[in-house]
Amino acid sequence: MGKVIKIGFFGCGNVGSGVWKLLTGFADNISHRTGLKFELKRALVRDIHKKRDIDFPEGFLTDQVDDILNDDEISIVLEFLGGEEPAFSWDLAALKKGKTVVTANKVALALHWHELQRAAKESGAGLYYEAAVCGAIPIIHTIEESLQANSISYLYGIVNGTTNYILSRMSKNGEDYETVLKDAQKLGLAEPDPAADVEGFDAAYKLSILASLAFHGKVPFEYVYREGITRVKLEDIRCGQELGYTLKLLAIAKRDGLKVETRVHPTFIAQDHPMANVSGSFNAVFLKGHACDEMMFMGKGAGDLPTASAIVSDLVRAASAPQHQYPTFTNEEKPAVGLVRNSDWKCAFYVRTMAKDAPGVLSRVAQTFADHGVSIAAMQQKGERQNDRVPLVFITHTARETDMQEAVRQIDPEIATVESLIRVEK
Ligand SMILES: NC(=O)c1ccc[n+]([C@@H]2O[C@H](COP(=O)([O-])OP(=O)(O)OC[C@H]3O[C@@H](n4cnc5c(N)ncnc54)[C@H](OP(=O)(O)O)[C@@H]3O)[C@@H](O)[C@H]2O)c1
Repeated sequence: MGKVIKIGFFGCGNVGSGVWKLLTGFADNISHRTGLKFELKRALVRDIHKKRDIDFPEGFLTDQVDDILNDDEISIVLEFLGGEEPAFSWDLAALKKGKTVVTANKVALALHWHELQRAAKESGAGLYYEAAVCGAIPIIHTIEESLQANSISYLYGIVNGTTNYILSRMSKNGEDYETVLKDAQKLGLAEPDPAADVEGFDAAYKLSILASLAFHGKVPFEYVYREGITRVKLEDIRCGQELGYTLKLLAIAKRDGLKVETRVHPTFIAQDHPMANVSGSFNAVFLKGHACDEMMFMGKGAGDLPTASAIVSDLVRAASAPQHQYPTFTNEEKPAVGLVRNSDWKCAFYVRTMAKDAPGVLSRVAQTFADHGVSIAAMQQKGERQNDRVPLVFITHTARETDMQEAVRQIDPEIATVESLIRVEK
């Protein structure tokens, strides 16, 4: 018989059940290939009497974390509790006891990575987190290992399936935000409290992790500019489509020398960009390395088995590693020394205004843009007239964020009101 590794679960909900299914149903195959035999010893849950789809063996579930922490036979803990606490404290306690932690929890990781990594290094335990970003897509491993020969200059991610599902349905079916959100909640694709997804927090946690790895320097969560999809209007999606764009909640990280920008916000991308076709609950990451050039990774970002796929791969990796590896950058709470946050990024903009239908209005709006260094690439009259106002949509050339914001503030509401401002990535 091969090496037997005893495992504990922190959590046994959707993801935990997927890992159980994969490890029980696929165990012989893994064992045959790797010589590793995994024994699932204990799973921590909140309520051991709750009705569950899987009939777990007697004594497998516990509501006492110490049953796992104090069990010296358990050498690897798989964490899928969710949220910052108590997950962080329990992961930390496990690492301090020398247990390797494999986690799907991006919140605890993004906020406390430095503390978890320090504890892991001190006790010689491993810390693995492939499932924390983009579910089944092996993007962490790819950036950490397979792209080591590259300097990555940018990455774009569609890293939140819920918002991608909502925006895809709004774009394809012309349904409004509230209707699609309610439906997504009924289908279990959005949480009853959807804020973490629709306000962009989930994507921002993931971007902080991806950017830190891609740029070899800590990019803390607080550095990520965040804007969700709650104010997205169907009218803008339609206008954008007519102009050749698709709206996505993009997680964007760019590096130019020491300057780093990280931002999550609704973004128009060209309809022929490969990311524009990533729809529904799929995730994708598109990146550019100086040697590999552009690459795109796409797959299921959530779901019990897709997430379990990443966790079990990490588990096999952890159990077969002669020595655990950690990211080589200085992983502290503060941003990496040398990296400078750029919050005045450059991009193109889509601006929808309701402008007075009178001679000279267009040139006054254009002049306000020009006064702030923003030049117009295209202008169209879109949508329906309301009273004495007509909708005018502008696409700008690349401009600075601060210049654009100031130009918008300076447009005289007597002649035009700015209804929407959406960033465009080319
Ligand atoms: N769902 C996905 O597709 C997906 C994809 C990638 C990453 N993730 C991440 O994986 C984690 C778990 O997601 P999930 O969908 O599996 O969540 P879930 O179905 O709500 O499961 C959470 C599990 O943790 C247990 N739990 C929570 N708080 C606890 C506490 N204080 N004490 C003891 N047990 C506690 C729950 O116990 P009970 O069973 O008794 O309620 C449940 O078993 C999250 O970090 C999530 O972001 C999820």
